[in-house]
Amino acid sequence: MSSAPVTKVVKDAWKISMVDGDLRNDLMKYWRGEKDGFVQVGTKKWLYPVKYVRLAEEYKNFEVRLDDVWITGFPRSGTTVTQELVWLLCHNLDFKAAEEDLDERVRYYELNLVFNDKTTEERVKLFPEDDELPRLTECIGNTLKLLDEDNKRRIMKTHLPFELLPDDIMKKGCKVIYICRQPKDVAVSYYHYEKGSWHLDYKGDFKRYWDHFKNGECSFGPYFEHIKQAYEKKDEPNILFVFYENLRKDLAGYIQKIANFLERPLNQDELYKLVDHLKFENFKKNPAVSKNTKDADNNEVEFVRKGKVGGWKELFTVEMNEEADVFIERKTREIGITWPK
Ligand code: A3P
Repeated sequence: MSSAPVTKVVKDAWKISMVDGDLRNDLMKYWRGEKDGFVQVGTKKWLYPVKYVRLAEEYKNFEVRLDDVWITGFPRSGTTVTQELVWLLCHNLDFKAAEEDLDERVRYYELNLVFNDKTTEERVKLFPEDDELPRLTECIGNTLKLLDEDNKRRIMKTHLPFELLPDDIMKKGCKVIYICRQPKDVAVSYYHYEKGSWHLDYKGDFKRYWDHFKNGECSFGPYFEHIKQAYEKKDEPNILFVFYENLRKDLAGYIQKIANFLERPLNQDELYKLVDHLKFENFKKNPAVSKNTKDADNNEVEFVRKGKVGGWKELFTVEMNEEADVFIERKTREIGITWPK
């Protein structure tokens, strides 16, 4: 583990500190998409690109509305499929309208944060033929404005932890769905995603990645603190805490649970249609929700990848797994969370 000091406090009120020393060198070496460095935020040391310094207040002070729906969870926990479900439930199962790109229907709250300006500029120069880039670059700095101007019911996806989101979400009682997925599968999925996305461009192997992940040294980490902040709120009436593993085991049950929470009862036919639409194999083939990422060399990488529970076996060695299990058990006890079987 890197024990580099984090010295320079760049924004006192928010307790945001520049990451420097060994940890900075390490992060800059392995996450090539981030060209300006990283910060850690608050006592939990949430790790983000340095751009967070200028975005923190916007993210915290954003004006929420009572009927907003927030979909949240650690990256790679099943947020995209849940976005599609929530959007359909809030739009009377309008499958025709759902042919529009999901990114346009459900906005990613902190899109701006994860795209380094220099990396994005370079990308536009290197791959001017990439037809995803114009829409993306237009959205990057504009997401909160677009949300602000939206006069329909808003559905947002965020990976920020509760403490960095607007306090009014809880005060006003907006509906929040938190998706939790078990750590080893999240780490494997996030590793593939970070390697396969030009804006992140992770260059290490999985063993190194797991060390970063475990120590909270990847963007949006630390993972266990993220879950803890949501798990503590799971009994609040405006919060629904769900598990990815249950989505995989019983998709119909998962859909029913979210439909009940959103007060949109479903008849058998509607439930059947939703199951069919969200089923992994069909979801993967749907271009409105499943767009491949491109890595730094412009190779396509699957975004909707394997969707497996227990997919961690692909990359954990026996030794890594034994060590990981000890760590996870300790963290599980600290949080008091019960994982689905
Ligand atoms: P894997 O990489 O293990 O395949 P997020 O949307 O939060 O980024 O989560 C991505 C993970 O959800 C990926 O996991 C992806 O394959 C999986 N996923 C996407 N759509 C799914 C679906 N319809 N059913 C089950 N899993 C899905």
